[in-house]
Amino acid sequence: MSRRIGSPLIGVPLLEDLGAVDGAAVLVRTDFNVPVESDGDGTCHVVDDFRIRTALPTIEWLQRRGARVTAASHLGRPTNDEPERCSMEPVRRALRTLAPDVRLLENLRFDPGEEANDPAFVDRLVQGFDAYVNEAFGVAHRAHASLVGPPTRLPSAAGIRLAEEVDVLGGLLVNPARPFVAVVGGGKVHDKLGVLRSLADKADVLLIGGAMAFTFFAAMGREVGASLLDAEHIESCARLLAEHSNIVLPTDVLALEPGGVFGSSPPAVGPRSDTKVVGQELPYGWKGLDIGPDTAEAFAATIGSARTVFWNGPLGAIEDERFASGTRRLAEAVAACAGYTIVGGGDSAMVVDGLGLADRIDFVSTGGGASLSLLENGDLPALAALRGASNAPSPGRS
Ligand code: 3PG
Ligand code: MG
Repeated sequence: MSRRIGSPLIGVPLLEDLGAVDGAAVLVRTDFNVPVESDGDGTCHVVDDFRIRTALPTIEWLQRRGARVTAASHLGRPTNDEPERCSMEPVRRALRTLAPDVRLLENLRFDPGEEANDPAFVDRLVQGFDAYVNEAFGVAHRAHASLVGPPTRLPSAAGIRLAEEVDVLGGLLVNPARPFVAVVGGGKVHDKLGVLRSLADKADVLLIGGAMAFTFFAAMGREVGASLLDAEHIESCARLLAEHSNIVLPTDVLALEPGGVFGSSPPAVGPRSDTKVVGQELPYGWKGLDIGPDTAEAFAATIGSARTVFWNGPLGAIEDERFASGTRRLAEAVAACAGYTIVGGGDSAMVVDGLGLADRIDFVSTGGGASLSLLENGDLPALAALRGASNAPSPGRS
């Protein structure tokens, strides 16, 4: 792991900093918040075990040195989701085949103390353990009890994958090979304004797609038709554009006719709604749902000449096949790029996976929100907590 100057890993204890773990009971906070699907008979199974597999090197590292490993994770959002979707049981079954000797606690979020970062919950959680390891990059942007509490009580360390995530993503902020091209899509511009600003500062080119592009169109004085628009943030988008000449927006858009239906299951019978390619001005009532073909080619060409690429978020309403082409073209361009390519978690990771392109991406992050938060702030609450552990290296020794 390279803890280069300015890296967010500076001062974070790694596994080696735990000292001897032979015979030790080690609590490993993992992010086993994986997609589960109901089998129809009330049981569920894990659909994608990527996040589980990325924790295995740390688990094996500890076990080889004689540690007894207990894993703990959240699953879903139990306050909103159906309870059967949040039981750890399907994860436990998946883990049993991958790492038979690991105990897995029940969903941490079943206790309100987890999200409230309640010190009494931390006390209960660490009881009986000799050391703590954070191998939960995907949730490291949350100051929840199991992420920030244990380092105040136990010798602690970042897991192998967590450290790698921070090294790779943090490296974008420190010294990326240039040209560095960032691509951000998705719907909610509000959630991403901070990271857009940070990426526009660091990258040579920032390509913007997805529904959030329309708030930028509005900021440029364009008509957006019936496209998604975040009226409250037009002003912020205008400021961002005024301050950064390296932001590139779509020049054409694939739009759906007024009143047209779209989604994962558009009407099976009857005429399909009409779509057409338009420029940056959307006709009245038309809804922009994907980047157009010219934009897709232009974005792909920009990516083709990049030496570093970071991509997060779909560029269209990919749940509807008609609006998935732009994102697919982008995924292909990222896969074909000869430079170092990083895909942020969530939907974009699913797209590259679904297209069978994941092997051709240099680094697929396990974290969506966490990767954006790290890029925006240069640090994460869980990393700051690890730096405060009694066994943390002093910054000078990192
Ligand atoms: C994720 O999947 O984004 C992480 O596990 C964090 O989950 P959360 O967004 O529910 O906090
Ligand atoms: Mg999330």
